[in-house]
Amino acid sequence: MTGTQEKKRVFIKTYGCQMNVYDSDRMADALASDGYEATDRVDNADLILLNTCHIREKAAEKVYSELGRLRVMKEEAARNGRQLTVGVTGCVAQAEGAEIARRAPVVDLVVGPQSYQHLPQLLRDVAGGKRAVETEFALAEKFERLPAATKERTRARGVTAFLTIQEGCDKFCTFCVVPYTRGAEVSRPVDRIVDEATRLADAGVREVTLLGQNVNAWHGVGTDGREWGLGQLLYRLAEIPGLDRLRYTTSHPRDMDDALIEAHRDLPALMPYLHLPVQAGSDRILAAMNRKHKAEDYLRLVDRIRAMRSDIALSSDFIVGFPGETDEDFEATMRLVETVGYAAAYSFKYSPRPGTPAANHAGHVDDRRMSERLSRLQALILDQQTQFNRSRVGTVMDVLFEKAGRMPGQLMGRSPYLQAVLVDADTSRIGTIGRVVIDSLGSNSLFGTLVEPDVRPAATQSTVEVIT
Ligand code: 5AD
Ligand code: SF4
Repeated sequence: MTGTQEKKRVFIKTYGCQMNVYDSDRMADALASDGYEATDRVDNADLILLNTCHIREKAAEKVYSELGRLRVMKEEAARNGRQLTVGVTGCVAQAEGAEIARRAPVVDLVVGPQSYQHLPQLLRDVAGGKRAVETEFALAEKFERLPAATKERTRARGVTAFLTIQEGCDKFCTFCVVPYTRGAEVSRPVDRIVDEATRLADAGVREVTLLGQNVNAWHGVGTDGREWGLGQLLYRLAEIPGLDRLRYTTSHPRDMDDALIEAHRDLPALMPYLHLPVQAGSDRILAAMNRKHKAEDYLRLVDRIRAMRSDIALSSDFIVGFPGETDEDFEATMRLVETVGYAAAYSFKYSPRPGTPAANHAGHVDDRRMSERLSRLQALILDQQTQFNRSRVGTVMDVLFEKAGRMPGQLMGRSPYLQAVLVDADTSRIGTIGRVVIDSLGSNSLFGTLVEPDVRPAATQSTVEVIT
């Protein structure tokens, strides 16, 4: 066949966690080398992929209501002689593949998170009139088979990037679907991670967030031939020229080893922010959750981390209303939050997930009680977050400018503590790190003023200085 073939357009809607954001980009890269260009308009797409999340019931429900809307769009497209292909990827695809195919005839393609390397072939099958459902846990690692982003595509995505280094989870917390949807823990090899991080830096990325469901369970054979953990990997990544900032998420308290904690003391590029979910403060509930740590273990760990990096901003996830949670158990969660003092935290009502052990636990907590507990917890967390943010007013922080802010002439950047900071500055500063004095506190961000016109090299990033 000859002639210019019109490019096909793909629209990917991403739900859930950052790992899905990364996966969506990788899928877009794979499809780009297969002739698809990404569009941010659902109405002109030839292919629509919903990259889904199954962590709580609400997240999974959203997918079915979106599919209802897509059915109407697909019928409309067909009337206009246009073929629209609809695919479901991600964790709902993994958990409910057959169910989706049965419940939603609009869906042409169902692909679980371990099978994205097969996406181009599966789309060819669909074009040939097949309906494709692929939810195998592939033995070969998907990322090593997926094409890397080109420099142009990376550049277009901005100055911060995600990099998945680990997938899956072997912890089996009793409430969680992840071990079933993402499978067993798999770590990517050091050389692949270093290559990808180097490519990102070469394309202008200044900050990389390493991702994994259990990112600090990452391990691999290091460049010295020894077994490395995340700590050692961070020391290596910190050597990459241009990578000024490193972050990682999400960590399990059991996998915070000494090398990782020491990296927070030693590496200026490793940002002082740590998402370290504890889930609950009652040992009885932690045991029923199979968290494999007690509240006291967590508090001791926080002390060890703060001994290495006193200004570290901590965040966490909490579940309220886990089966059997009494008022007393909940008070233990409140006490733990008060003791730690978080810079941010996410909290959720317990949502029973089919196939997880806790879904069969006795002791259902009624919704009214759950709501009361959630609002008390969220009020406390908000209070701590506001306090943390307020404590930065009047200080100078290094801010990495990421993009234009909402107001003309304004840029949005991030402090080392992941706070959004709005500053009046020229767009030419995007991708640079500037010294910013924090003037005031907004509802979701800080407002600041540039105090230094020159771009500072990364190695001298400091934490906080008080202007006197
Ligand atoms: N119900 C409520 N919250 C949950 N999470 C995971 N599974 C559930 C569930 N079944 C929360 C945990 C986890 C975060 C990503 O989502 O707090 O850390
Ligand atoms: Fe889920 Fe627990 Fe694994 Fe986190 S550590 S992904 S909450 S099973």
